Parts: sequence; C-alpha cells; structure tokens
Amino acid sequence: MSSYDLRSVLSFLVLLSAFGTCFGQANQTCIHTELVTPVYNFSVDSFLGTWYAHTIYSGLAQDATPLGFRCLSVNFSRSDDDIFDLTAEERYFTFPNGTDIPHVVTDDITISEKSQAIWKVMTFTEDGETLEADSVVVQTDYTNWALEFGCSVRDNYRYETMQIWSRVRNPDPEVVAILELLVNNYGFPPANGRLVDHLNC
Ligand SMILES: *[C@@H]1O[C@H](CO)[C@@H](O)[C@H](O)[C@H]1NC(C)=O
Ligand SMILES: *[C@@H]1O[C@H](CO)[C@@H](O)[C@H](O)[C@H]1NC(C)=O
Ligand SMILES: *[C@@H]1O[C@H](CO)[C@@H](O)[C@H](O)[C@H]1NC(C)=O
Ligand SMILES: *[C@@H]1O[C@H](CO)[C@@H](O)[C@H](O)[C@H]1NC(C)=O
Repeated sequence: MSSYDLRSVLSFLVLLSAFGTCFGQANQTCIHTELVTPVYNFSVDSFLGTWYAHTIYSGLAQDATPLGFRCLSVNFSRSDDDIFDLTAEERYFTFPNGTDIPHVVTDDITISEKSQAIWKVMTFTEDGETLEADSVVVQTDYTNWALEFGCSVRDNYRYETMQIWSRVRNPDPEVVAILELLVNNYGFPPANGRLVDHLNC
C-alpha cells in the first residue's frame, strides 16, 4: 500500500545509535532547540499538507500524563500573510465530560533562517490565548512519517517532546516500531510516550 523506504529509516537508525542525548528541563527557556539537528536540506514544500499525530513523548517522565485530546491532525500550507511563512490548521477533539468536542486552532509559523526545518510556531487558541513553541523536524521521508522535536515554556516550565507523525491515521506498525527506537535514541524513552487515539475521528 504505502511506498515508504524502510532502508532509509534503518540508515538513520545506524547514524543515530551513538547519539542518545538526554534532554533535561532545568531551565525555563527552550535552550535545546538549537542543539537538535534538523533534517538536512529540508524541503518545506514536500512537508506541506496533512499529518496525523501518532505518539507524543515527553522528555521527562513527570510530564508523561494522559493526553487530554484525541484525533490530532495538522495541515500545513504556505501563508498568504507577509509576516508568517506558513499557516497550519490543527484539528482535534477534547472530551472533558466524556463527549468529543471538536477544535480547530490556527498556527502561524516562522521558518528559521538557520534551517528550513526549524520553526517558531504561534498558536491562537479558541480562548484567545497565544502559545509559542519551537518545532524542529529531525527526521522525515515526507511521504509517510516524520519525527518532530517540540519545545514550549508555560508558567515557567519547559515542556519538551518528541513526536511521531504520519501521513495516515493508522501507519504501518513496522515503521512505527523503528521510529520508536529512533525516538528512544533521542533520549525520549518509550515509557514517556502517549498514543494519540484515532478511533472514530
Ligand atoms: C538558563 O538559560 C539561560 C539562557 O540560555 C542561561 O543564561 C542561564 O544560565 C540558565 N540557567 C540555568 C539555571 O541553567
Ligand atoms: C537539496 O534538495 C534539493 C531537492 O529538494 C536538491 O535539488 C539539492 O541538490 C539538495 N542540496 C543539497 C546540498 O543536498
Ligand atoms: C489543507 O490546507 C490547504 C490550504 O488551506 C487546503 O487547500 C486543503 O484542502 C487542506 N487539506 C485538508 C485535508 O484540510
Ligand atoms: C460536554 O461539554 C460540552 C462543552 O461544554 C457541551 O456542549 C456538551 O453538551 C457536554 N456533553 C454532555 C454529555 O454533557
């Protein structure tokens, strides 16, 4: 069905096996964003379109709480705004009372001058709140899967995540298994992973 190149994933695995950096959270700025290696020669245009969140790993075990949302997807497109490079529409459900409540929030994204794979994301929530986050695409084959590092600071607390994204809601389990190993090598252990529920989205 899918045309992913398993060998390219495996070569990343070999390259990364000695990497194993562990990200602590002692400071309240996103100090690690600069240290994360982005995809080399990243192509923004190949990355546009819709991605589905598969698993979100927190850097610290204490942050690995149950997700308060499900069915998360994001659709990236070129912005027609002069200030921002990209816009994204995020869709997800929350279920505060056991019933799915749909959300659509908009992100404005500025691409770093240092690398096209490093983004500053401003999210405008429905409550009128503006959230800022760093995002670094660290690995992707563009057509099937992506690994993304995320960092944001809220209430003086730094949240760091590694996320597995897929072009489909239910990606190939074999590919996911390899991606999980990669994520672990970045210092985000499996125990800190939270699967995004994509049933009945
Ligand atoms: C926090 O980060 C800032 C900026 O990178 C640095 O100047 C400061 O020393 C750091 N503080 C601690 C406690 O690590
Ligand atoms: C970067 O990628 C483009 C295709 O997206 C390719 O044409 C170009 O040669 C690449 N540059 C380097 C330095 O690898
Ligand atoms: C993604 O956004 C683009 C640009 O706004 C739009 O044309 C496209 O229909 C959207 N795709 C989905 C699946 O919503
Ligand atoms: C759940 O909360 C939403 C939003 O507050 C509300 O619209 C919905 O009616 C609630 N559902 C139930 C079953 O209470």
